[in-house]
Amino acid sequence: MEKRDLIVKGKAKSMYTTDDAGYCIMHFRDDTSAFDGKRIEQLERKGRVNNIFNAFIMQKLEAAGIPTHFVKRIDDRDSLVRRMTMIPVECVVRNIAAGSICRRLGVKEGIDLDPPTFELFLKNDELGDPMINEYHIAAFKWAKLKDVETARELTFKVNDVLKKLFSDHGMLLVDYKLEFGVCDGKVLLGDEFTPDGCRIWDAETREKLDKDRFRQSLGNVVESYEVVGRRLGLSFD
Ligand code: TMP
Ligand code: ASP
Repeated sequence: MEKRDLIVKGKAKSMYTTDDAGYCIMHFRDDTSAFDGKRIEQLERKGRVNNIFNAFIMQKLEAAGIPTHFVKRIDDRDSLVRRMTMIPVECVVRNIAAGSICRRLGVKEGIDLDPPTFELFLKNDELGDPMINEYHIAAFKWAKLKDVETARELTFKVNDVLKKLFSDHGMLLVDYKLEFGVCDGKVLLGDEFTPDGCRIWDAETREKLDKDRFRQSLGNVVESYEVVGRRLGLSFD
């Protein structure tokens, strides 16, 4: 499939049209963003590592019956995906308290959330991705409520699959953010699943192995992504 025009340049990825209107090419750059784009740096190898990581996870999710936009990895930094109309909302599940929930609710990082929480955020960097609920989505007609309901069910299904996957390899899936779109009337998981958009800790030491290393200037950001990938059986050579 031939790469054509840039559709949208996000903070870490760029999306291109192809010669088939039903498909896009998702290109992973080395750009690494935090705090709604207020801090952006290039981290060598990150685009390639995330492209390989994302392809592996998307295939695991498909195999578990979760419909995704992912078709195949094309090369080091490009993957072929189905073209969708995106739902402009971020779905977040948390198994352990970390990040914004600690600031918002004054709870300590590291406490188990049982049952896990589900939160919706509007995808809008200028507004700092404010938290919203289904009533806002209905009133402002950002998406169909039945599609958001499907997205919530799929987000929890992803938790069942990935909590076990990470736990089987000595890691904790602390939280993660997913984005969905609609293709031919069907809700599909879109965007990516990489350590850029989730929190993963070592199960024993609770060492952070995700983008919090960048947010908190802990160093070894891409190296930690590679550690996670290698534990899952991936090779980045
Ligand atoms: P938070 O603690 O900042 O609300 O983030 C929760 C999880 O969702 C964390 O794994 C990071 C991810 N996330 C993103 O990747 N992008 C975003 O814009 C937001 C709000 C969260
Ligand atoms: N992904 C968002 C950003 O780049 C939020 C974050 O990860 O901190 O700004």
